[in-house]
Amino acid sequence: MYLAGVNVGSILYTAEEIAGRVRELGYEISKDYRGRDLVLVGILKGSLIFLADLLRNIEIPVDLDFMCVETYKDSVTPSETSQILYGGGGGYEGRDLLVVEDIIDTGLTLHYIQDVLEKESPKTLEICTLLEKEHSDKSNISVKYVGFRVPRVFVVGYGMDYCGEYRGLPFIGVLNQEIESENQENTSE
Ligand code: IMP
Repeated sequence: MYLAGVNVGSILYTAEEIAGRVRELGYEISKDYRGRDLVLVGILKGSLIFLADLLRNIEIPVDLDFMCVETYKDSVTPSETSQILYGGGGGYEGRDLLVVEDIIDTGLTLHYIQDVLEKESPKTLEICTLLEKEHSDKSNISVKYVGFRVPRVFVVGYGMDYCGEYRGLPFIGVLNQEIESENQENTSE
């Protein structure tokens, strides 16, 4: 199916559904962190749009920081290791860190990020993800806020990409399976 010229199999969440859920998350976070020293740590690049909308739905003072972590390399298959490209370096001691992620699949990326941030001695360290894939083995990470639980499909839009594309879509869609299987055939050659 081509939606606005984009090769997306189906829409999982419309812009309106996403906005409603992000409002709820903002409300919960504002309630839980009132009177505390909240720092949102956005994981680039995928969380950018979610983070911007979440921030505007949080009604308490909040500081903002970013980390850029590489896990996927132009493929629907996760690479084995994560690597910090930017951020995660200091100023977090005694503060309430809330890591903002776009999607959890295997949980490896967040497990790695948690290890890095714990070394900074924050007062608290929690995770907020827009999407969590069902049956994901989260490698013992505990996630405080989840927007939606989704099937194990490859999704794009609302900040999430496939080979650098589709981040600007206002909705969350499932990548057309033809592209995914073509990619798998190519990588298995
Ligand atoms: P994990 O380490 O397997 O949990 O993968 C997490 C990271 O992989 C996310 O931050 C995304 O950047 C990327 N990712 C995982 N699944 C998807 C997907 O379905 N669409 C787009 N990116 C994904």
